[in-house]
Amino acid sequence: MENNYIKVNKEAYNNLAKEYEERNYVVQDNFYHDIMFKNLKFKNGEKLLEIGPGRGARLKNFCDYGLDVTAIELSEEMGKLCSKKAPKAKIIIKNVLECDFDFQFDYIYMEAVIHNFPIEEIKKLFNLIYKWLKDDGILICTTTIDEADFECYEEKQDYKNKIKRFRHHYTEKSFEELFIKHNFKILNKKYREEIDNTRKKLWQILYLGK
Ligand SMILES: C[S@@+](CC[C@H](N)C(=O)[O-])C[C@H]1O[C@@H](n2cnc3c(N)ncnc32)[C@H](O)[C@@H]1O
Repeated sequence: MENNYIKVNKEAYNNLAKEYEERNYVVQDNFYHDIMFKNLKFKNGEKLLEIGPGRGARLKNFCDYGLDVTAIELSEEMGKLCSKKAPKAKIIIKNVLECDFDFQFDYIYMEAVIHNFPIEEIKKLFNLIYKWLKDDGILICTTTIDEADFECYEEKQDYKNKIKRFRHHYTEKSFEELFIKHNFKILNKKYREEIDNTRKKLWQILYLGK
């Protein structure tokens, strides 16, 4: 049987897809190319897996870099946006915890997704990521920096569509410790401050290896 948080999140992101598609992200798009992906030295044909691509903006960037791109997306509506935005990417509409691959990836990318999992499910997710990531592969994982570590069902305050979804909040320390505890090494760390009128969030971006 599907876990409740998966059911709630799938419904929430199906309902939020239109708003994600219509939001203007132009300023932020430059950040990814100029700062976030700088130094990664993507090579043509390298394999990248994106978990939870949402509206698919990064998927398109990854395809444009010449990477061999696969994505796993829980929401059917988000999946449709991904197919439109990044037709070259292979898109799997499924809960990532029910997926498996018999090959490995050079990069695994999770932007604003890890906080959709309860802490008791993280081990399952990390076991899969560990298996799917090449020994010299890089996991890139982001979440916001919050003042306390806790989890709950909550509404997204910065979206018009007030629908509850599952959210774990991490502090800077608890996020780093999460990976260290599960045998990942922190290779690098960057920050992104949103300069959008509606959102004032500070994001932490971890670059991790085995
Ligand atoms: C907050 S959105 C972030 C979307 C995109 N990465 C971005 O930064 O704009 C989280 C996305 O992860 C997807 N997601 C959540 N749980 C998932 C799961 N168990 N398996 C696959 N995708 C999941 C959601 O459907 C949603 O599209």
